[in-house]
This record gives sequence, structure tokens and C-alpha cells, in this order.
Amino acid sequence: MTVQDSGSVEDLAARLRPGFTLGVASAAFQIEGSLTADGRGPSGWDAFAEKPGAIVDGDSPTVACDHYNRADEDIALMQELGVDSYRFSLSWPRIQPGGKGSINQRGLDFYDRLIDKLLAAGISPMATLFHWDTPLELEHAGGWMNRDTAERFAVYCAAAADRFGDRVDHWVTMNEPVSVTVQGYSLGVHAPGRQLLFDSLPAAHHQLLGHGMAVRALRNAGVKGQIGVSNMHCPVESASNSLGDRLMTQALDLILNRIYADAILLGQYPKPPWPMKPWFRSLGTIHDGDLDLISQPLDFYGLNYYYPVKVAAGPGPAEIPTGKSPEMSEVPFHLAAYQEYETTGFGWPVAPEYLALLLRQMKDRYGDALPPVYITEGGASFPEPPHVDGPVQDTNRISYLAEHLGHALTATGPGGIAEDVDLRGYYVWTLLDNFEWAAGYSQRFGLVHVDFHTQERTPKESYYWLRALERARSQEP
Ligand code: BGC
Repeated sequence: MTVQDSGSVEDLAARLRPGFTLGVASAAFQIEGSLTADGRGPSGWDAFAEKPGAIVDGDSPTVACDHYNRADEDIALMQELGVDSYRFSLSWPRIQPGGKGSINQRGLDFYDRLIDKLLAAGISPMATLFHWDTPLELEHAGGWMNRDTAERFAVYCAAAADRFGDRVDHWVTMNEPVSVTVQGYSLGVHAPGRQLLFDSLPAAHHQLLGHGMAVRALRNAGVKGQIGVSNMHCPVESASNSLGDRLMTQALDLILNRIYADAILLGQYPKPPWPMKPWFRSLGTIHDGDLDLISQPLDFYGLNYYYPVKVAAGPGPAEIPTGKSPEMSEVPFHLAAYQEYETTGFGWPVAPEYLALLLRQMKDRYGDALPPVYITEGGASFPEPPHVDGPVQDTNRISYLAEHLGHALTATGPGGIAEDVDLRGYYVWTLLDNFEWAAGYSQRFGLVHVDFHTQERTPKESYYWLRALERARSQEP
């Protein structure tokens, strides 16, 4: 795929509908550093990152992008970029260090200043309440395997709503509960490093409950902003037409996509294919009213799209898209390679047409229950040097972004395959190269290069491309 295939910046700008939001997204733990500053408590990720072998090259998140001390510089980069909106996450252990009990005013103050500066820069704040940094004390008590964590989460959300409810334009309750369940509790490649395989599913139900309780807390607080959730969706397809492959594909669709989206949008859990029923038994104790809480109406639905997966029956290599997982060789399916696509630094297939198919599938599955959609994350890592003396020539990232945005706009535009989906925006993952979870600093997703020794920020070509897109758009009649 070349940049030419994606069309010119002017062509793409002309296809951006009025009011369509272009933004960048980030997460507190991946950029802030300052993990012990101003009363922040530890999170499960702080502890996980200290385990030998947990993070590639033994990289540490303690400084990350030092955003906690450099927020002004980073907002200036966004202002120059011209984005309409910034999606960031509030750190629960910064705001409520033990996950319960007293609220840390200094933690709230940091985000208070951030929000005010964004607004002053003309950038609309989208705040995510949970992007994986569960307070460590709660993790010790079982984390999301424990129903109580959902109750605790709602209390912290109410404090955030109380302080920021007058200024945040969009609230995202949770980021990708599926990643926490699968990578954190099932396969153990992310915090808290548990390896419960199918017994991890209570973590799914409790996060969904946390989402529902957060929606209720935000509504009760009368926040002025819109409320939604961000779920990662991986379109699944069967590696062959065999019954075994097809059944495994259906099962993985439940595990990755439908447990979360069906519960939130339809108020029910999907029925597993009959041979796999025992796998899904541990969805946990569902109390009366839980699914009503989980499926309260939302103002928008956030889709994070990175890649599709091709599923084949039988155990496979101990690899998942974000790392090595010995547990993966114990499950009776594996992910087959997509030979036909180029891949990113993580080895993920670059498959923008699946974003269009996903948007169609969302409408087919959820119909009128699907609220307006924002793509709340999309982006790619590529091998790039740790030190640079000028803009990285990341034409691969420019193609990636242009193609994904282009397919999403075509699909949801007049005559497109998903023209009945009300797509409101696209957030690029991410502004800065950052701490990429278990991959440490080895995977660079940023529009801006970060030298992790000097903290110097150097915009890449993709940054200038997005800036040109914003500028071309503002010149449209
Ligand atoms: C997560 C981000 C992560 C990105 C790339 C998303 O699933 O929300 O935190 O950095 O993927 O791996």
C-alpha cells in the first residue's frame, strides 16, 4: 500500500463531513510517569511491570513520557496539530490511591489543569475513567474477579464527575474490558498476570457492571458531556470452512466481541455454540438487575479497531497479537496468519477494509440499539529508531491512517456499505510514542517521536500529514 493509494490530503479532507471529530488518544499509565508523585497510589500495572520478564527489555513505566511534568508541551503539540479533541484517561490510583476511601485532591488538580488548558487551546476533552490501572489494593483483593471492584469504581467515577462534569465533553467509562479480561486475567501477559483461561470470565461481567455503575453515577451527577464506552472489536473469520474452525471462530467472536457489545447494547449475554457451553459457565453470578444496569442507553459507542483475526481449531503457537503466552498453547484454537496483508511492528495485519465490514456488522447485529459511533482508537507501531535528528519518514503510518479513515468514511457515506451508521469521529492512537504495556518502549505508535533518554519530542511525517489534513479541511467551503 502506498500513500498514493490513499488519495491526497485534499481529497480526504473534502470527504470529512462537517462536525466529524479528528482526535488523538492516550492513556494515563502509558504517558504520565511520576508514579509516586503527589500522593498517587500504586496500580496493578506498577507491580506487574516489576516482575522479571514481564516487560520487553525490562523497560520501566516510572518515567514513560514524563507527561505529568510536560503536559503543557504536549498540549502545545496538539494545538499546533489542530486536532478537535483529545482522549486521555484519568488515573484511578492518582485520584483515589487505595481504590477506596479518601480522594486525593492533588490528583484531581492535575486533571483539572489539563482540562482547562485543553479547553483554552480549543481542544475538546474526552475523558476515559478506566484505562487498565486498577489500584493495587483492589487488585490484591481479587481485582476485577471481585464484584466489589465495580462498586468501588462507581465511587471514584462519582468523584471525577463531581469535579469535571461541567467541562468534559465526552466520557468513556472503560477502555477495552476485553483486553483486561483476556490479557490480564486469562493469559497473564498483562497485569495482573493471572492465567485463569476460561475461568477469567467473571472479570468480564464485573467490568461490565463497573461500566453500568459508572454510567449511573455520571447521569446522577448530571454531567454535561455525552457518555459512552470504548470496546475493542476484532472482526473474526474462520481459517477454513470446516466445522471445527467455524465453531472456534464463533466462540472467539463471543470472547473478543459479543460478550461486551451484546451485554451493553442488547442487555443479554450471547449464547455460546453448544459444544463450548462449559467454557462460558464462569461468566459469574449475575444478579437480578445487572444486565439492566449494564445496558443503560448510551450517547455514543466507542470502537477501537486495530486488526481482524482468522481462527483455526487446534492449539497453536504460544503467540497472541501482543506477546508470548504459554497459556495460549492450552486453548483448543489458534490465530492463523494473514499472508495477504502487510504487517505492523507488532505483526498485526494492516487490513482497513475490515473496519468498513466491522461498521456494517455492528449495525446488522445491533440495529437501532447502536448509538452514534466514534472510532476511539486506531493506529500502528512500526520499527523506528530510539534517537532521531529530524522527522521520522513514517509513510507506512500515513498510509495506515489515510486508508483506515478513508474506508470508514466511504463505508458510512452515501451509498456506503454502512451508510446507516452515524460515525462521528476518529481518534488516532496515539500522540506520543509511549509505554506500550508488556512491549515496553519497543513498539512506537506515536505521531510524535519520543527519545526516552532525553524526553525530546520530534514530530514525525505523520504528524505533519494530520496537520495538513486538519488545515485542508478548515479551508473547505
Ligand atoms: C489499547 C492501548 C494500546 C493500543 C496498542 C489498545 O488496545 O487501548 O492502550 O496502547 O491498543 O496496543
